[in-house]
Amino acid sequence: MNILILHGPNLNLLGTREPEVYGATTLDEINIALRDYARTHGIELRIVQSNHEGELIDTIHAAVGWADGIVINPAAYTHTSVALRDAVSGVGIPTVEVHLSNIYGREQFRHESLIAPVCVGQISGFGPQSYILGLGALAHYVGEHNENEG
Ligand code: DQA
Repeated sequence: MNILILHGPNLNLLGTREPEVYGATTLDEINIALRDYARTHGIELRIVQSNHEGELIDTIHAAVGWADGIVINPAAYTHTSVALRDAVSGVGIPTVEVHLSNIYGREQFRHESLIAPVCVGQISGFGPQSYILGLGALAHYVGEHNENEG
C-alpha cells in the first residue's frame, strides 16, 4: 500500500513554532515516527512538505497512479483553499485530514475546514499522534475498500 503524506505551510517550523500550541516535536521527528509505523505495517510512504499552495496541488496530482491514499495536514490552507479542496476531490484518492491542534477549540476562523468534506475523515487535536492515527485509519479504510473491490 502506497500513502502520500502531505504537510502544508509553516509545518517545517514545528519544534520552534508556537510550542504552546503545537508542542516541541519537529517535523523530522514526526516523519521518523510515520516511517517507523509504515515499516511495521507494510506501507510505502512518500512525504512532502511545502509552503506553496500550487506545489501541494501539483503533488496531489502527481500522486495519481501511485498513491492508494493521502494523509494531509493542510495547515492554514485548511481554512482558505478551494483549490486544494478541488485537487483532493478531483483526483479521487481517499484522503484523511489531520491537525496537531484541536481546530475546534481555537479561533472561530479555524473551525471551518474546506478540505474535510471531501476527505474520508478528519483527526484533530492529538499532537504528532494525529498523523499516526490518520495513517492507521487510512490504511484500514484502504484495506477494506480494496478487499471489497477485489
Ligand atoms: C494546523 C491548524 C491550522 O489552523 C494552522 O493554520 C496550522 C496547523 C494544526 O496542525 O493544528 O498551521 O493545521
